[in-house]
Amino acid sequence: MKDAAPQTIYLKDYTPPSYLVDSVHLTFRLSPEHTRVLSRIAFRPNPDAATKDFFLHGEELRLHSARIDGAEVSPQMTLEGLTCEVPDAPFIWESDVEISPIANTALEGLYISNGMYSTQCEAQGFRKITYYPDRPDVMSVFTVRIESDLPVLLSNGNPVAQGDGFAEWHDPWPKPAYLFALVAGELINHPDRFTTKSGKDVELNIWVRPGDEDKCAFGMEALKKSMKWDEDVYGREYDLDIFNIVAVDDFNMGAMENKGLNIFNSSCVLASPQTSTDANFERIEAIIAHEYFHNWTGNRITCRDWFQLCLKEGLTVYRDSQFTSDMRSAPVKRIEDVIALRGRQFREDNGPLAHPVRPDSFVEINNFYTATVYEKGAELIGMLKTLVGDDSYAKALDLYFDRHDGDAATIEDWLKVFEDATGRDLSQFKRWYEQAGTPRLSVSDSFEDGSYVLHFKQDTPATPGQDQKDPRVIPIAVGLLNPNGDEVVPTTVLEMTEAEQSFRFDGLAAKPVPSILRDFSAPVILQRDSTNEERAFLLAHDTDPFNKWEAGRALARNGLIAMIRDGAAPDAGYLNALQAVLRDDGLDPAFRALAMGLPGQDDLAQTLVDLGDVPDPMAIWQAVETLKQAMAQHMQDLLPRIYAQYQVDSPYRPDADQAGARALANAALALISRMDGGAQAQAQYDRADNMTQQLAALACLIADGKGNKAVQAFYDQWKTDRLVIDKWFSLQIAYCDPDQAADIARALTDHADFTMKNPNRFRATLGALAGHPAGFHHASGAGYALLTDWLLKLDPVNPQTTARMCSAFETWKRYDADRQAMILAQLDRILAQPGLSRDTTEMVTRIRN
Ligand code: ARG
Ligand code: ZN
Repeated sequence: MKDAAPQTIYLKDYTPPSYLVDSVHLTFRLSPEHTRVLSRIAFRPNPDAATKDFFLHGEELRLHSARIDGAEVSPQMTLEGLTCEVPDAPFIWESDVEISPIANTALEGLYISNGMYSTQCEAQGFRKITYYPDRPDVMSVFTVRIESDLPVLLSNGNPVAQGDGFAEWHDPWPKPAYLFALVAGELINHPDRFTTKSGKDVELNIWVRPGDEDKCAFGMEALKKSMKWDEDVYGREYDLDIFNIVAVDDFNMGAMENKGLNIFNSSCVLASPQTSTDANFERIEAIIAHEYFHNWTGNRITCRDWFQLCLKEGLTVYRDSQFTSDMRSAPVKRIEDVIALRGRQFREDNGPLAHPVRPDSFVEINNFYTATVYEKGAELIGMLKTLVGDDSYAKALDLYFDRHDGDAATIEDWLKVFEDATGRDLSQFKRWYEQAGTPRLSVSDSFEDGSYVLHFKQDTPATPGQDQKDPRVIPIAVGLLNPNGDEVVPTTVLEMTEAEQSFRFDGLAAKPVPSILRDFSAPVILQRDSTNEERAFLLAHDTDPFNKWEAGRALARNGLIAMIRDGAAPDAGYLNALQAVLRDDGLDPAFRALAMGLPGQDDLAQTLVDLGDVPDPMAIWQAVETLKQAMAQHMQDLLPRIYAQYQVDSPYRPDADQAGARALANAALALISRMDGGAQAQAQYDRADNMTQQLAALACLIADGKGNKAVQAFYDQWKTDRLVIDKWFSLQIAYCDPDQAADIARALTDHADFTMKNPNRFRATLGALAGHPAGFHHASGAGYALLTDWLLKLDPVNPQTTARMCSAFETWKRYDADRQAMILAQLDRILAQPGLSRDTTEMVTRIRN
């Protein structure tokens, strides 16, 4: 039955559910191998449904008995659940099923991780717990009874009863099954309280395994800040008496917004200065905010079907990025987000896995929790806000919460709210949700008689299943500078709606220098023939921090491309301009640290493809190495001064100021290290009292080939801390010589601490290999073979994580015939595996086509 051909599901086939659910009562008798789940579900026919067929999803369940209105029934089993004759009136369904949490290595449904029970139901995991209409447009009120000897028994909503060996929870807010959660274990809580703006007192807890209780304080502060921020900025208040967060070691994703009971990958909540880097702290704060914000954007207003995933994810990512901007530095956050967008989403949009922000078909929905749905989805919200303005955005959001509270909504509902609040027609904007691919925006300009004209052309390459693209509305934020660096036209948003369009600025004394796409006002690739002088000028004078950074990045990129294509020497103009930026103490250290970064090697490969070249990953790696060496030499006097100036003397705090100083000093260290044989890095390693300093020094030592001693010392120091050991695994691969990457990764998979059952450890090792372009795409093919060996081993154990990691191969069409042939052979080897999961089959098939 499991081997039936995977079915494609289409948005256009959506039909309302045949039956609605008024209430759900669940009883769990927990046991590792034989958990019993008793359900009592009140159904009624849906007056809006086209059919009266009764179907309940169910997978990997052993049905012991089923009853309708008290009378035993014998349902017919189908491929994905069961059907049954039912009355044409409200009725009570009861079932008794058995499941085995201990056998559940896929980490979907109810499973056991390190002795604790935990669940993950989004997107379609609830059907592995009991028979149910497992679709987000069926919302109901849940009451849950947990029977177990374990001391901590948690579910959604508010606690209603507790006694020896049991606990009962009731969630008054109707919710879809994907928001159900249950946790049971020997857990310790880090408690706190929050009073909402209307005076409601809420109990807060972070639950962890014994030994982790000293890593909860930061997460708790982040939670309280998030609760306050959502009240202040969006007017959204929390709506239960209690809010629980639980840390789980084995988890496929980052975290999950289950109503009142958020479950987190322990790497996304546990934090301490000794074990977490500044980047970890920032990310943890953002993820806690993200899951908390889902309480309104996701839970109170959920999605009608999984095609609408971006309705909750795009909006919630946008909200968490606003939160981080408010808590830390807005320009720094914007630059970080764009680096990530280009690194992951542009890559996806330019390859065989490209799909619209709202896909119109899928085989396995878990394969669509992508950078496109999340990050590009968030960019669309940002563009919408730019187009309608801040006040209208606030008005539209109020209307959205007002009109759709309690609904399972769609993108059409979302856009209608904006149309009603602003009177704008958003039909063209909707193309952003429907068309895949990254638009190329090319610009030319002219100046005559005091009039400056910017001429834009938009063009989106074909993507799978979409050859023709219609022009989109693109908000292009532009400012103009005069030749001595003063801004003559402050930021203005041009609204491009045509395939080609010109915009004119009158009354200018001289031809200005344009600063285009300020704050990255649209997720497009800007193509402009500009000179390096002009880029250096913008790097020095642009008032928009994003474009100031972008000018430096363009200089670096062009220099690298010239080195790769023409064997040019490192660009002295870039080195001088960068040096001037680093010397400018008026600039935020975090900004300067970002300015020292170079475009990613994968990013450079895509640039070369856009120029009509076949990229050679080794040549790219070599050019980056040569440029770094030139930077180290060119600034050899300045770097030690910066390094000394930005040492942090006060006790460690994970705030933006200290993190920025450390980021700048550590960026300097990475270059100093190339000149001093690693002496400074070793000294920093030896005196480090926090993970940011320790890890940065270790990375330098590994990159310089001087890491053996420190690698061993680090392991001895941290061998009992699994999250730190994940860093140990990944760093050795991330910073190694490309010729050795596959061997080092293979040796690490033989290490006693390697286990593929823990997704974090698997990603730390094989994900690090896939993230090392020159190592992974090594001409020997050893990287491809090693990853494939492990994907084949992992697939029967954990299809979700396997399928996600297949995207390592998504760029294969860029490369030369030899590499293409080697990758195709590996993809075919995967497809040939008997019993390959639906998840992995879909991914590899799409990549291969
Ligand atoms: N909704 C979660 C979040 O973004 C992600 C959970 C996705 N899980 C999955 N198995 N697809 O916060
Ligand atoms: Zn989310």
